[in-house]
Amino acid sequence: MKITLAKTSPLLQPNFVFGVATSSFQIEGAADSREPCIWDTFCDTPGRIKDNSDGKVACDHVARWRDDIELIAGLGVDAYRFSIAWGRVINRDGSINEAGLAFYQQLLDALQAKNIKAFVTLYHWDLPQYLEDHGGWLNRNTAYKFAEYTDIVTKAFGDKVYSYATLNEPFCSAYLSYEAGIHAPGFQNRQQGRQAAHHLLLAHGLAMRVLRKNAPHAKNGIVLNFSPCHPASNSAADVRAAEMADQYHNQWYLQPLLEGCYPPLLAELAANEQPLMVDGDMAIIAEPIDFLGVNYYTRTVYRANEKGWFSDVPPTTPPLTDMGWEIYPKGLTEILLALHQRYTLPPIYITENGAAMPDTLLQDKVADQHRVDYFQQHLQATEDAIKAGVDIQGYFAWSLMDNFEWAEGYAKRFGIVYVDYVTQQRTLKNSAIALRDVFANRR
Ligand code: FCB
Repeated sequence: MKITLAKTSPLLQPNFVFGVATSSFQIEGAADSREPCIWDTFCDTPGRIKDNSDGKVACDHVARWRDDIELIAGLGVDAYRFSIAWGRVINRDGSINEAGLAFYQQLLDALQAKNIKAFVTLYHWDLPQYLEDHGGWLNRNTAYKFAEYTDIVTKAFGDKVYSYATLNEPFCSAYLSYEAGIHAPGFQNRQQGRQAAHHLLLAHGLAMRVLRKNAPHAKNGIVLNFSPCHPASNSAADVRAAEMADQYHNQWYLQPLLEGCYPPLLAELAANEQPLMVDGDMAIIAEPIDFLGVNYYTRTVYRANEKGWFSDVPPTTPPLTDMGWEIYPKGLTEILLALHQRYTLPPIYITENGAAMPDTLLQDKVADQHRVDYFQQHLQATEDAIKAGVDIQGYFAWSLMDNFEWAEGYAKRFGIVYVDYVTQQRTLKNSAIALRDVFANRR
């Protein structure tokens, strides 16, 4: 039931930041008061979302934000990570949606009043449809539009924001969205996946320059997802497959930021499958960052396939989460140490970590012991990485509350707070209570 950390744990030191995370499309609802985004379109396309749901209401957070801030404050967290919906701030004609901007400003004021640090993500996948209509992330101009949007938001928010992340998981907005086709806008084209990735990274670099100017005191960086890539067997082919997957899924998004170049795998791709780049792009992309956000959920196992490429081997051995993801806490320590050895890293925040479980609400309680165990093990894994020398300054649980889990709809519950989608009633799960106790016992 409880989560225990040693009294001397670095996680319990006063400067270590504990928080909870959400994202705009997944919780906000109030779709009528913003521009449609690519996820609205995707949800309207039959067969794309498992339970045929959409983000029109979600957790109704725009209407219930005051209560949600009380909920967050009640957990005793130091920080709240959330994202801004681009299309709630900038209208199709380029004008500012003043009410949308005011919504985020009052949220920031309320957090400030409660002494909760605001970790703002500028892009968590909800690209305005009006930009998608002009090619979305395949259009280089979208990167410049992102810098303009960043300029508007940062000027309006002033010093209310503790930390800005430009993008959340560009791997997902590039690979899953344009190559694997399972996220919006749902294309399946290898060259396009890489082109989208390049434009996303460019957008990040351009926005970093704006952040430096407009928010020089904020901690500015980016959030990437990582998964250690393990070979399915000791065969040379599988070992090579796992190595390629690591380059393609992990290093592809980090090496450009820290070293100004793509991994060697790029040069092995056919010319017509490489992204188009313009001279000077890599220097923009490598703009220094104040922190790197690391999202971690699981590891991935790969085998070589007939095409000389890699295929993932779905996990079958328990314990698995409700997503079918293997619970593999030591992978978090492993990837952090591997990155630490490979690069000169900026300070790290674990910006997402958590698990979907088949929760049931029984007499106002959710006994999510497996999620409690998940947090226990991953907090321990974080501590192990710190002890081995990685500079980790904070940890955010994904997610504050159950929400719209993208292509899975509402069926997968990642929250530490249970949401009844009929009544919008929020109920603390046992994991929320266990985390709250960890946070409270620090003082
Ligand atoms: C991450 C996303 C987040 C959530 C979790 C489960 O990839 O950043 O929005 O969906 O996975």
